[in-house]
Amino acid sequence: MMSLAWPLFRITEQAALAAWPQTGCGDKNKIDGLAVAAMRRALNDIAMRGRIVIGEGEIDHAPMLYIGEDVGTGCGPAVDIAVDPIEGTRMVAMGQSNALAVMAFAPQGSLLHAPDMYMKKLVVNQRARGAINLALSLEENLRNVATALDKPLESLRMVTLDKPRLQPAIQAATRLGVKVFALADGDVAASVMTCQHDNPFDVMYTVGGAPEGVISACAVKALDGDMQAELIDFRQAKGEAQAHCQIAEDERRRCAAMGVEVNRIYPLQELVKSDDVLFCATGVTDGDLLKGIHQYNGKVSTQTLLINGADRTCNIIDSLHFR
Ligand code: FBP
Repeated sequence: MMSLAWPLFRITEQAALAAWPQTGCGDKNKIDGLAVAAMRRALNDIAMRGRIVIGEGEIDHAPMLYIGEDVGTGCGPAVDIAVDPIEGTRMVAMGQSNALAVMAFAPQGSLLHAPDMYMKKLVVNQRARGAINLALSLEENLRNVATALDKPLESLRMVTLDKPRLQPAIQAATRLGVKVFALADGDVAASVMTCQHDNPFDVMYTVGGAPEGVISACAVKALDGDMQAELIDFRQAKGEAQAHCQIAEDERRRCAAMGVEVNRIYPLQELVKSDDVLFCATGVTDGDLLKGIHQYNGKVSTQTLLINGADRTCNIIDSLHFR
């Protein structure tokens, strides 16, 4: 795995560079397609036996980087790969901040195989490790994290997404006096920022994409944070009662086929079984975690965060691309 760290940052750079010229074009699919194709080309140049376990969807719905696709040259380490070629396609399409190209590597068999559905996620940093339990209410978790951090609830900072389904959680946290930061999109960046040394947030709570959850778990693991997650079906994510819902039925069938369970709480160790993980993200548009792509006199700059769980390092890589 260590040998893959250096080439890895070139892969997210390539995906970000392919999507960036389309910033503001309004077409999410076009942006995603360009990033996917660039990421796949770059992955296939790497000496590894890679398998996509978190990708663009199952084979019949995704022509490239589908779950189960083999990538790499076919020699070298056997790795599980989780990709989100653009985390925040809507942000790139609308010319908004905080979009990333992101991926994670882990030894074969060590990443949870989660389909593209919703996941409830709770993340804390190293100092609150062991203080979270998704079986409890959000309020109880916030109280426990505040105690672990030895902070009054009024000083606790929770980051989440500003989505209708998360308004009850935002109101519950606010009622306790917790300070809430609701981002438009992008819970991978929110999870990483929660675990970073100079963390602007103490807790990350969302109901967001499961693929993003597994990718975030790689960064959380390498940064010594803690995370719990629960796959929830479409009906639960939308807060609907027990009415029949075909999407939810299909999701439950796909989970069963992939060997994962809906409504089971997965601790960090089951989301990512190994410590030997690599996480990499390149900024597309300017964000709180990373600078986006900029152009200067015909040269283009990128900024990439590479987190290596094996040698316990974080690198920020500023590249200038001569075009
Ligand atoms: P994508 O651009 O990769 O779809 O993800 C952006 C994002 O904000 C994720 O960070 C989050 O997990 C998910 O969307 C939330 O889903 P939804 O857009 O359905 O609210």
